[in-house]
This record gives sequence, C-alpha cells and structure tokens, in this order.
Amino acid sequence: MEKIITVTFEPEGRRVRVQPETSIFQAAREAGIGIRTECGGDGTCGKCRIIVKNKSVINEVTDAERTHLSEKETDSGYRLACRTIPKQNITVMIPEESRIGARKIQITGLERPVPLNPSVKKFHVVLPKPTLSDVRPDFKRLLDHLADAYGLKSLEIDYEVLKKLPDILRDADWDFTVTIWDGHVIIAVEAGDTADKLFGLAIDIGTSKIVGYVVNLMTGQTASIGSIENPQIMHGEDVISRITFAMAGGEKLKVLQKLAVEGINDVLHEACTQGNVDSNDIYEVTVAGNTAMHHFLLAIQPKYLALSPYTPAVKKPIKVKAKELGIKIHRNGAVYVLPIIAGFVGADAVGDVLSSGIHESKEISLLLDIGTNTEVFVGNTEDILSCSCASGPAFEGAHIKHGMKAVTGAIEKVRISPDTYEVEYETIGNVKPIGLCGSAMVDVVAEMLRSRIINHHGRFNPNLKTSRLKKVNNIPEFVLAGENETATRKEITVTQKDINEIQLAKAAMFTGCSILMKRKNVKRKDLDRVFIAGAFGNYINPENAKFIGLVPDVPTEKINFVGNTAVTGAKMVLTSREARETAEILSRRVRYIELAIDPDFSQEFTRALFIPHRDLDRFPSVKEHLERLE
Ligand code: FES
Repeated sequence: MEKIITVTFEPEGRRVRVQPETSIFQAAREAGIGIRTECGGDGTCGKCRIIVKNKSVINEVTDAERTHLSEKETDSGYRLACRTIPKQNITVMIPEESRIGARKIQITGLERPVPLNPSVKKFHVVLPKPTLSDVRPDFKRLLDHLADAYGLKSLEIDYEVLKKLPDILRDADWDFTVTIWDGHVIIAVEAGDTADKLFGLAIDIGTSKIVGYVVNLMTGQTASIGSIENPQIMHGEDVISRITFAMAGGEKLKVLQKLAVEGINDVLHEACTQGNVDSNDIYEVTVAGNTAMHHFLLAIQPKYLALSPYTPAVKKPIKVKAKELGIKIHRNGAVYVLPIIAGFVGADAVGDVLSSGIHESKEISLLLDIGTNTEVFVGNTEDILSCSCASGPAFEGAHIKHGMKAVTGAIEKVRISPDTYEVEYETIGNVKPIGLCGSAMVDVVAEMLRSRIINHHGRFNPNLKTSRLKKVNNIPEFVLAGENETATRKEITVTQKDINEIQLAKAAMFTGCSILMKRKNVKRKDLDRVFIAGAFGNYINPENAKFIGLVPDVPTEKINFVGNTAVTGAKMVLTSREARETAEILSRRVRYIELAIDPDFSQEFTRALFIPHRDLDRFPSVKEHLERLE
C-alpha cells in the first residue's frame, strides 16, 4: 500500500494528506491555500516560491527552479511549489510574496438609466374556482385570465410547473402569483401575493474576479453586491493557461465550469446575505464575461479561441436554465448570457459599450477596457469599430521582477524626485511593501522619464549618479524600496526588462487606439471623450498614463474612469428588455478589426514602443514638458 504524505503549510498550520508524487503546489490546492501562479503550475513563471527547511525529504532542485531561483536562495530552502515533490511528511512555509492576498476588486461602474422593463415579471391572480358549469382545464383557466386581465398571449408553461399546477392552485385557494420569463414562459406559480418579491442577479465573470449585483426588479435598484477572486485562478492566472488546462482533456473543462458556477454561487450567497434577499426570489441571472469565461461557464469547447483565427463557438446570447448550470437561484430560474462581438471582444465588452453609452452619442468616443487583453472601441451613434490588443499581463504585475496584483502590500502610487531621485510611494492597505502593481508601474515609467532616469527609448541613463541605480548581472535596476523598508526584507527594484515589458504593453494598447482612429478617420483633437473601464483603469494616474503614451494626449478632463462597466451592462440587460435588445444589436453592429492583419500594424507598433511615442508631435503636452526639462 502506498504511503500517504502529510503536508503542513505554515504560517497557518493547515494540513493536507496527499498521494505520493503530489507536488506542493497541488497539495496547496487541495488544502485550499492560494499560492501565486501565472503559469498554472508549469514551472515557467517562478511565482510559486516556498521555503522548505528539511531538504532531505524533497526531490533535487530542478532546472526550471535554477532559472528562477539563485543558488543562495536554493541553499536557504527556497523552492518552486510546482516543482517540489515531498517524499515524506513535510512542513512548508509560504512566504508573503507567494500568497494570494486580498485584492482590490472593482465592484462599481458607470450606470446609465434604462426603462424598467425586466425580462421576468410577476402577476398576482385570483381565479374563480372550477364548477360543473365551468370545467375549463386549470392551465386554460389561467391563460384566459392572463389574456383578459393583462393582454398576455401565446404563453407557455415550464413542464416542472405544469406537473404541480393543479395542487398549487387548489392549495392556494386560487389566489396565487404567476412569474413569466422572456415574455412567454410561466416559470413559477406561487401561493398568495408574492409580486413584490422579484429579484435578479447581474454577474461579471472576469478572468481574475467575479462580481455580482442582486437587483430589485420592481424598482431597478441594486439591493446588494458580492465579489470574489475567480476560483479558476488556481488553474492559471490568464486566459491562455486556463484554455491550455481545459484542452488537456478528460473532465478539465468541467472543472473550470464547476469553479465558475461555485464562484457565482459564492457571490450570490454573499450578496443575498448582505441584502437580506432570499435566493429563491431571484428568477434570472444575466452574465457578462470575456469570451473564454463565457465558454468555460457554458462548458463550450474553448480550444479554438486560442488558435488562429481565434473564432468563438457562438456569438448570439445564450439562454439556459439556472439549474442546468447549478446556479442556486429559484429552481425554475433562467440564465441569460450576453452576446459577444468576436473571439477576444466578448460579452463583457458588450456591457462596456452599453454602459458607457458611446453608441447613443454623436460625440466621438474612445473606450478602452484594460486587461491582459485590452478591448478598444472608437465611434459614435453612426458606427463603432473595435479591436483587441494583446497588452499582456504586465499591468497585472506579471512578467515584472517585483510585480504583483493589486493586493495588500502592493505599491500602487510612486513619485520620484527629479533632483534627488528620492522615492515616495503608497501601498494598498498602508502596510510595508511586498512588490508593485500595475498602476505603480505606470507611475514609475512616467516618473523615471521625467527624472531622466530613463530616456525616450526606455533605456537607463548610464551617467546617473545615485545609489538607487545598481547593476545585477550587468543590467541596470532602480531601487524603489530598500530591504529595510519592505515586508520581505528584500529590495524592490525596477529593471530594464520591466520597463521594456511596460513599453510592449502600452505600445499594444496605443496601436489599437491609433489604428481604429485611422480606420474611422478620427484625429486626436476629434476625440470628445475617452472612457477607461476595468479595475486597473480606476487606479491609474491619467496624467502619467498620457505621459507614457498609454492613451492619446487629450485634455485630462476628457478622460473618464468608468470602472466595472461589464457588470453594470449586465445589470442594464437584467432590468430592461430594451437594453437587452440593444446589446444584441451591438453585438451584430460593432465592427471588429483584426489588428494582426492590418497593414499599418507593425509600423504603428514600432513607433509606439518609444515613450511616449516616436512621433512626439502626437503627444504635445509631453513634448512641451520634456523640452522644459532640457
Ligand atoms: Fe510554479 Fe509557475 S513556476 S506556478
């Protein structure tokens, strides 16, 4: 019989018993402990660092670990959790930098008023009892009344409801409430008058978080909000690693679907508890999410989203019973998944457009939803163009030496004195820093350019005289926080490679903006409004975003941070059938431009790699600032 191994995780002291050959990374998952990962356990990201004191009970250091850990680190017990296999019972320490902390979740977003006309409606009904002179069947009796009293025609009844209808009507003494979904399906018949108990749930499944609003469908008001980290994160932080996981076959796609559903149920539970709402009074869920999350939730094969030409399985909205997915609302409740625009411009993007209202205005708007993939829209009421830019995870802290997500301990704001190069920073939670998140990276690059620590090409100034500039393996790094200031007792630095990662990310975004503007024949001065959606957008400094060339150089007052417009878009389609129709029209009408085949792409991208841009005339305010510094 094979020996079971006990792994104890410190500092919590949590224990888990695992089969031999189970990695520490897998054991942590089984113990429900979050360890950072960007590669989903492939040994390529180097983020899952752990400390093992008793080296005699684990495997030898692997080549993958040698790439990410110095000899000094492996000597002092550092290993990568996904490459470490215990042979005997073991105690493992998860250091601060490898923990998944409490993330800042963007739960609110711009909301626009819509006519209150939800897809679910209730009707209180009192029927005359059948008699020998009126022997109409129960359902016919109900249909006749709904047609006479409310003008409702061509109704159908859910089979589950029909089976119990005779008993329900008689037990209720013919005084009951009917719930109708999608204008024609009776999904519930309840005793008495329950017409005031009518709620819905609007959900945004993001790659990193799930946010849900419980909405009172009688008033259109949000009753409460719930949010959590997307539990799928344990199978990779980004969409591509999760698709790769799903493609490994077996039940893997089902695993992702189950995690999405569990995440929705957790959000539902949190919001219902907070708002004192009974989940049985929720009759519909509307879901926005990027195309991969959409496919995972519905267990649709996601493989082809990751393979050129990146086609989704379906574009139309999906209607499915909540119980078929396992979402714990009313037992006959329904789920409406918003339509999508293209492989990488998903249902969340439809929500963004709907909430920002760029399709209803004559003014020309630029809308960006910044994430690992940044969706960009340019247009107005006449026509909207869209594209998706592979901006990469740098703004989420990935591929940055000391990068991390926007969780407690992340530096989120930075200022650098151009005279002394002294650094001021703020951290999330006002605690000692562990690393730096995306908004800090925008500040860092802008401040380093202002202070001439780096130049227009993003290269370090070799003549800089400050002890903050050092070289590691002959590559320059700038020290933001010394080892005595940080929670990890290690310096937090910004490297040449980090700057280059930000250049690539911002160049991808700006190229998307400039190509759409070119195709729409819009100049910078023609832009009336710039909307920045997404969690990251809300925390960036707009001046610094312009300074590094992440967004066009427009007056700051034209820039609007609109937050989580994916969930507010889902709320709009929950509360208004008109908004739902508009979402469906938008998914068909918004034109998608494939950047990879655009003839101007490579030239635009190369020029945008400069900070802020090779053509400084496109950034007059930055040009002026830099000239003043000359
Ligand atoms: Fe272990 Fe990425 S290297 S999770």
